[in-house]
Amino acid sequence: MAKVNENYLKLPGSYLFSTIGKKVAAYQGANPDRKVIRLGIGDVTQPLVPAIIQAMHEAVDEMGKAETFHGYAPDLGYGFLREEIARSDYRERGCQVDADEIFVSDGAKSDCGNIQEIFSQDSRIAVCDPVYPVYVDSNVMAGRTGEYDKEREVWSNVIYMPCTAGNRFVPELPQECPDLIYLCNPNNPTGTTLTREQLKVWVDYANRTGAVILYDAAYEAYIAQKDVPHSIYEIEGARTCAVEFRSFSKNAGFTGVRLGFTVVPKDLWRDGVALHGLWARRHGTKFNGAPYIVQKAAMAVYSQEGKAQLKDQVAYYMNNARVIYEGLREAGYEVYGGVNAPYIWLRAQEGMSSWDFFDWLLEKANVVGTPGSGFGPSGEGYFRLTAFGTYESTVEAVERIRKLRRE
Ligand code: MLT
Repeated sequence: MAKVNENYLKLPGSYLFSTIGKKVAAYQGANPDRKVIRLGIGDVTQPLVPAIIQAMHEAVDEMGKAETFHGYAPDLGYGFLREEIARSDYRERGCQVDADEIFVSDGAKSDCGNIQEIFSQDSRIAVCDPVYPVYVDSNVMAGRTGEYDKEREVWSNVIYMPCTAGNRFVPELPQECPDLIYLCNPNNPTGTTLTREQLKVWVDYANRTGAVILYDAAYEAYIAQKDVPHSIYEIEGARTCAVEFRSFSKNAGFTGVRLGFTVVPKDLWRDGVALHGLWARRHGTKFNGAPYIVQKAAMAVYSQEGKAQLKDQVAYYMNNARVIYEGLREAGYEVYGGVNAPYIWLRAQEGMSSWDFFDWLLEKANVVGTPGSGFGPSGEGYFRLTAFGTYESTVEAVERIRKLRRE
């Protein structure tokens, strides 16, 4: 008889954003007349920019003619896109990354979740706390995280690196030695960042100890400050210790289109093996390539028009971030992030847990956010709002929260 992967049974509850979705749907079902504003999951609201739409239309037309039809895409990505990424995202920033070190995929979430497969079963992971839940959950599924302590909401075999206002959201080097270190910069969920200097500490540490940094740069397009790196490969030594994940979801509105890529440098070896070859083998076996239409659409992200239109789109969301940040700070909330990232991290109303605050805002202000504790125990008492709403709904949400605080 078939047996299930028992590691799945260890996972507490459902995926964070599914839980929130169900709660909101139940509330909306019971209160159909209320206008609920969703600033929970970091999903974009602005349409694809014209340059991208045009590229997609052209690609669709190509697919309709025998001479220009495309079947399976190359499993690692079309050469035209890999070359463009290597040039625009890396070489122009002074980073040495070659086109054949880039693996195009259906998004950074899949790659962040799948990367653990190429590492040994007994690898010890270190994560920031709070953390994007995919890093931990994918390792739970693989049976790497030990037992779950319900009281403390931690896994026995995971190294947690608390990031709170107390340490200005900068993780400290762990006492125990991890094999895999997940870093997200700019950070989801706190919206805070590591500077080049702070990231160098991690690169040096990983090279010294043999750990690998799994670096999630999905939000790099939102960086405004000069000392925050757009890529880990801006840091000397990163090619021998880091894998980088990138996404088109947040910089180009592809959350519903799906496209991302992962960089595995050829200089990254562990155990006498090049990780590049392992990831290529995995990708080739389990992935049949991102759609031609989508990869052509991504090319428009790098065109002159595309760049200008996306700059405006990012500025639109960052204006929302400013509205939330300033509006809540003026109302007396303690707020973080929102300067180099589309997330605002705030301290919940005095005396409330993250989930109490979630329920309170949903019921009294009809505003949805994400409870900080859903991202890890150090997120307790905090709350995340996304800047990906429309400007009008963002302004209204902030006004409703301010009003509630005054009452
Ligand atoms: C989030 O809200 O944290 C993100 O939208 C999730 C994701 O990008 O998968």
